[in-house]
Amino acid sequence: MVRRTRREYRADAHLSLSVILNSTSACIGRVGLRGLDWKWKKVESLSYWLDPRYWNQGLTTEASWSLCTLAFDRLGMRRIGSQALDGNPASQAVLRRLGFVEEGREREAVCVKGRCMDMVWFGLLAKELRPLAG
Ligand SMILES: CC(C)(COP(=O)(O)OP(=O)(O)OC[C@H]1O[C@@H](n2cnc3c(N)ncnc32)[C@H](O)[C@@H]1OP(=O)(O)O)[C@@H](O)C(=O)NCCC(=O)NCCS
Repeated sequence: MVRRTRREYRADAHLSLSVILNSTSACIGRVGLRGLDWKWKKVESLSYWLDPRYWNQGLTTEASWSLCTLAFDRLGMRRIGSQALDGNPASQAVLRRLGFVEEGREREAVCVKGRCMDMVWFGLLAKELRPLAG
């Protein structure tokens, strides 16, 4: 993953940002855009992770919203894709809250210790990004 990130970063195809908590300036996670396609103005994947101590406070939704806004308004992208495992309802909730639409399903995409899970594929067009609540 690190090798791929470095390669994509050098090729201008990756944007990875730290999530900084305003109140303490602590770095508590990361949001990123992978597979920036400048020709067709689309992003293969929005991804994120956050320190579990800060889950369920809307922080990933807020950070991802800022990154999507930057991608559409500053980078001129038309669409952003993202993928979430069927067994990861929090990740899917973040995407749906932002306005991402479910576009497909990769059946049994990942198998760990004999348990297979589908990957749900999402997409967001610029006009579909929802305003942040609150
Ligand atoms: C996915 C992840 C980034 C979410 O971070 P977060 O800061 O807690 O996200 P938010 O607080 O902005 O939103 C969480 C949403 O999930 C919902 N949620 C949380 N646990 C849930 C569960 N078990 N079932 C259903 N929904 C759930 C929350 O209600 C919230 O939705 P809402 O705003 O519509 O109420 C975090 O759990 C994480 O880092 N997980 C590990 C890495 C990962 O899975 N990354 C995604 C794949 S790239």
